[in-house]
Amino acid sequence: MNAPTLVADRVPLAKDAWYVGVASTQLRDAPVAITLQGAPIVLFRDADGQAQALHDRCPHRGVALSLGTVSDGTIACAYHGWRFDGAGRCRHIPSLREDQTIKSAPVRRYPVAEQDGYVWLWTGTDEPEGAPLAIDGFDRFQWLQGAMELACEAILPIENNLDICHAAFTHPNMHPQWFRVQAVGFLPTRYTVESTATALTVTGPGTHLRFDVPDRVTVASGDAFRLVLHHVPTVAGRCIQHWLLQRGPVETPQPPLWSSTEPEILAQDRAVLESAQRAYALEGDAFEQSVEADATTLAARRLIALAARPDAREMPETRRVVSVLS
Ligand code: FES
Ligand SMILES: [Fe+2]
Repeated sequence: MNAPTLVADRVPLAKDAWYVGVASTQLRDAPVAITLQGAPIVLFRDADGQAQALHDRCPHRGVALSLGTVSDGTIACAYHGWRFDGAGRCRHIPSLREDQTIKSAPVRRYPVAEQDGYVWLWTGTDEPEGAPLAIDGFDRFQWLQGAMELACEAILPIENNLDICHAAFTHPNMHPQWFRVQAVGFLPTRYTVESTATALTVTGPGTHLRFDVPDRVTVASGDAFRLVLHHVPTVAGRCIQHWLLQRGPVETPQPPLWSSTEPEILAQDRAVLESAQRAYALEGDAFEQSVEADATTLAARRLIALAARPDAREMPETRRVVSVLS
């Protein structure tokens, strides 16, 4: 059964923030269409190779600019060939005689930054507040990179990746926690949950999870394993999960290796999360019940709600020990 059409996410992420638009290696000669917080956006590279982002709608007759081509560093509409530069200015209208002037409203541009293997977009109406949050030590490692669309809003995979008690059930034959539980059963475990206004860390035996607003979760285990996930809201009830898996150290920085294969462990999460989305879409969240082990996900929800309200940025630092069987 299809879920009803949603007009908004249950827990919207911050509006004024840097979000991953596309992996740098996936933006080459052709324009790339994305949807970010309900807005259609076209990405392309200008004559200098700089990534640019414009509202994906031609001001002439409304055709998606992403259907066009990149020509001399501008994007040329597929319908009548009007061309727009990275600032959104119309540079050429093929049907105009030379003595006729171009009169066209500019297309909205989005501030762009290229950093740590991604093209980032600023979604705020004002100019960006600083650069995107850096990925620690990005240039010292090789990475495997991919993305998957999820039919659920971003809060669900964010919470899932901070959820300390799901792996033994959702990830059979896949997750170290599942194997450990098969061998020795559930053990009393203590996790420390520390929170500031913009970040949350969860530390336990062999586990280090971190959430940074608006949408990044880092899953690490010692120095050997690090997975960096971003959860970009597209339209209501959907998101894209961009994943980056740390590989070996490198002497000179290298672009991440692109993978179009969906990691099976993330596909296992997809099944439960998309199912939960259908329930929330039908019933809201009034049916939810929480236990001690949900402290990590509830703390992330508080941070997300805070980040989405720019008038209320302050939150006291907190520290809490959560005691569970896991
Ligand atoms: S619709 Fe784009 S040029 Fe006419
Ligand atoms: Fe999971």
